[in-house]
Amino acid sequence: MPIKSRIRTIPDYPKKGIMFRDITTLLKDPVGFRLVIDQMTQHYLEHGMDFDVIVGMEARGFIIGGALSYTLGKGFVPIRKPGKLPGDVVGQEYQLEYGTDKVEMHTDAVVQGSRVLLVDDLLATGGTALAGAAHVEKVGGIISEMAFIVNLPDIGGQKKIESKGYNVFCLAEFE
Ligand code: PRP
Ligand code: HPA
Repeated sequence: MPIKSRIRTIPDYPKKGIMFRDITTLLKDPVGFRLVIDQMTQHYLEHGMDFDVIVGMEARGFIIGGALSYTLGKGFVPIRKPGKLPGDVVGQEYQLEYGTDKVEMHTDAVVQGSRVLLVDDLLATGGTALAGAAHVEKVGGIISEMAFIVNLPDIGGQKKIESKGYNVFCLAEFE
């Protein structure tokens, strides 16, 4: 069974009209989670694209980013919801598919000139990933690629992100 078949869809969550692609069913399946990490690891080992550090978006980006950080032997940097990081932070508000949000990153977490793989579970409007990229770039980092389990291309995030010159890698798509 492929990755996509292990992802559950819950209609009208968190608002009416949203078809919520729920990766908890994929993650609880030991084969499903391993498929995700193996396919992403394989992609970065074969791709020939090297990078220095993985930056993961709270909350579900931590699950994939943490495991990938281990398999690829790279450090992991969290981008968190406001007020959670103890040191000096860069922060920015951004638009979501349903509302607004804000995230923060430690100012010293990404060294100037270092190449970053930005990781999250899902790409919808691209607002979260672009906010993450803005934080990385504010402190002098370079986004090498952005990786997601799920892409929702109809919402337009991938086009938006690619039109700004970033590379996107996804394992599954839902219309
Ligand atoms: C979801 C998802 C991504 C983001 C994608 O997180 O895990 O981080 O939305 O949407 P975008 O491409 O439109 O920005 P959510 O906002 O639900 O936050 P949480 O699960 O971390 O609370
Ligand atoms: N699933 C999970 N997270 C999301 C979704 C979704 O369908 N849309 C925006 N964030």
